[in-house]
Amino acid sequence: MRGLRTPGKVSGSRVGEAGGMSTNTTYLAPTSVDLEELYREIAIMYRDVANETSRDLHFPTGRRLAEGLGYPAELLDRLPAGAVSSFAGVGYHFGLARLRPGERVLDLGSGSGMDVFAAAMQVGPLGSITGLDVTPEQLAKAERLNGYQRVTFRRGRIETLPFDDRSFDVVISNGVINLSPDKRAVFSEAARVLRPGGRLALADILTAEPIATRTVGQADLWAACIAGASQVDDYLADIATAGLELQVLQDNPTYSFNSERAKRTSSKYGARSVSLLALKPALTHTINMTEVSQ
Ligand SMILES: C[S@@+](CC[C@H](N)C(=O)[O-])C[C@H]1O[C@@H](n2cnc3c(N)ncnc32)[C@H](O)[C@@H]1O
Repeated sequence: MRGLRTPGKVSGSRVGEAGGMSTNTTYLAPTSVDLEELYREIAIMYRDVANETSRDLHFPTGRRLAEGLGYPAELLDRLPAGAVSSFAGVGYHFGLARLRPGERVLDLGSGSGMDVFAAAMQVGPLGSITGLDVTPEQLAKAERLNGYQRVTFRRGRIETLPFDDRSFDVVISNGVINLSPDKRAVFSEAARVLRPGGRLALADILTAEPIATRTVGQADLWAACIAGASQVDDYLADIATAGLELQVLQDNPTYSFNSERAKRTSSKYGARSVSLLALKPALTHTINMTEVSQ
């Protein structure tokens, strides 16, 4: 990730050491952001999004945002209002995900659960949805609103997923991966938990230019989905390194940040919202001549 892997304040930390979660073995590449500070900012910002207590966020939230991104009003009408009002995504990735009845879906960074509940309506009673998030207040709100069969929420980090290999048909994520200091680990984990032939459909913030080190170091701007955003080629390279094949990449031109500071930074680096679809290749069995002759 150009612009992020600069020598910095943190080197070789484990994901999960900060932010009150003990987990795992993934080592982070050095970045110029202080991870303790970043995790603190993320915890506060998304607690406030869940509680609907913050009035001056850098980014938009709620029903008007969702409608502007392309969520059908009839779908939003059928979802819990509290989940819709805490929606903080950046795109409508369901057009690419094309969920089918019976599918097993994982939502990375599920927030207050709006996309999880929307997915539940699409996969029906034979499907299942798991939402994973790190912020306790987001998870508590989603649990409170959950009246759906086969919908579960788990606390965890997207860099180290607490799920078995090949356990999902589709992984979705909306406005979250830019927040991770180790995007390569996130894509590697998404690829691991997808079955062969499975799909990754996401919306996220990417930039045209790598973000300068001093801006990367601003934890509050990172937590607001800007300073941690990858340059587009680096992001796609991380997806390819995980063994996922890009199928579609499209802009979400209606998305924009709220605050002057966020607008200034996003315009400086060409930050924009995109949606994309990537596939985990299906298993192919190559028959060799020795096998045929036996
Ligand atoms: C911008 S919000 C988007 C939430 C949800 N996808 C939506 O569309 O409303 C980002 C979410 O990612 C969660 N998050 C941030 N970093 C995370 C990580 N490393 N692992 C798991 N969740 C994370 C935050 O707690 C927050 O709920």
